Amino acid sequence: MLANVSRNGAIGITGVGSYVPDRILTNEDLSKLVETSDEWITERTGIKERRVADPEQAASDLAVPAARQALAAAGLDPADVELVIVATVTPDMFFPSTGSLVAAELGSPDAAAYDLSAGCTGFMYAVAQAYGALAGGLARNAVVIGAETLSKIMNWHDRSTCVLFGDGAGAVVLEPVSDGGFLGFELGSDGEGGKELSIPAGGSRNPATAQTVEQELHFLRMNGREVYKFATRVLVSSAEKLLEECGLTVDDVDLYIPHQANKRIIDHAARNLGIPEEKIFINLQKYGNTSSASIPLCLAEAVAEGRLTKGTRVLMTGMGAGLTWGSAYTTWNDGQAAA
Ligand SMILES: CC(C)(COP(=O)(O)OP(=O)(O)OC[C@H]1O[C@@H](n2cnc3c(N)ncnc32)[C@H](O)[C@@H]1OP(=O)(O)O)[C@@H](O)C(=O)NCCC(=O)NCCS
Repeated sequence: MLANVSRNGAIGITGVGSYVPDRILTNEDLSKLVETSDEWITERTGIKERRVADPEQAASDLAVPAARQALAAAGLDPADVELVIVATVTPDMFFPSTGSLVAAELGSPDAAAYDLSAGCTGFMYAVAQAYGALAGGLARNAVVIGAETLSKIMNWHDRSTCVLFGDGAGAVVLEPVSDGGFLGFELGSDGEGGKELSIPAGGSRNPATAQTVEQELHFLRMNGREVYKFATRVLVSSAEKLLEECGLTVDDVDLYIPHQANKRIIDHAARNLGIPEEKIFINLQKYGNTSSASIPLCLAEAVAEGRLTKGTRVLMTGMGAGLTWGSAYTTWNDGQAAA
């Protein structure tokens, strides 16, 4: 899916928020759990530490404070929210949706609410869906949240995956805006590659049994090398397609926010796209790969650091399980919804 949406009325992000659990797990801590080292993890990924949810914390517990912060920043009363989408691969449970639980907790009784599963691309897909709902007149505003408790689906014996991921949530509010806003989206999927990054059991293909639990099939499994090749390829191709469709070049990008999976993947993509280091936003050293929370966590941090202000032109690209990918280009506004 590739769209230049500049003909539509402007819709943009009017508030951002984030939440991460307090507990920090450093590379040093991990080296006591599995055979690894700070040196290996830092060199291969750029990650130094990640956050880990408490046993009683589920995805909705991370999503709600992030959403409240985004709503406060947008000046939108939770009671007036019309759409809540939670992008997650670690929902509280299969159903009810985490979106419904979050809407209830926020106090948004009139909101349509659901979950969206597109792996680490979830946030980009969810933003595109919310954009479509607003542009099509289905809703006047939307809260889009990426929330993950990946620590709950980690195999803490598998050093090739447990060092990479972390927990967190980021949220944005979408509303019509008088200037700036989204200019285009590019989204895609390749289910042929789905087997490279999955949780093999627990769904209808391979329902939970004592045997599947014993075989540790309810944890995330990944073919790191294949996912690495895929990620480096689509980060570049998705961004290039989107920029071309919108009649733009990388010179029209002030801030590049790629999915925070691995510093080497990001460096490779930025080099191939021709985006200089000072335009790249990176915080994976603090959080690891937080899947669908990664891009909104960056947005919230970039706003807090003053790197994202009115007029900043932002390119975001996510990629992950599915396999999926997605990019969006937006010009930041001053957080004001159109009157
Ligand atoms: C996972 C990843 C960091 C591994 O890096 P790599 O350079 O490809 O490393 P390899 O898989 O080739 O493994 C090299 C060696 O390191 C070992 N190793 C793997 N994890 C290790 C760890 N945490 N600590 C120490 N050694 C480790 C491997 O066992 C292997 O040893 P061997 O050569 O004796 O078999 C890399 O493949 C990657 O980033 N993949 C993409 C993952 C990703 O981002 N997924 C999410 C996308 S949304």
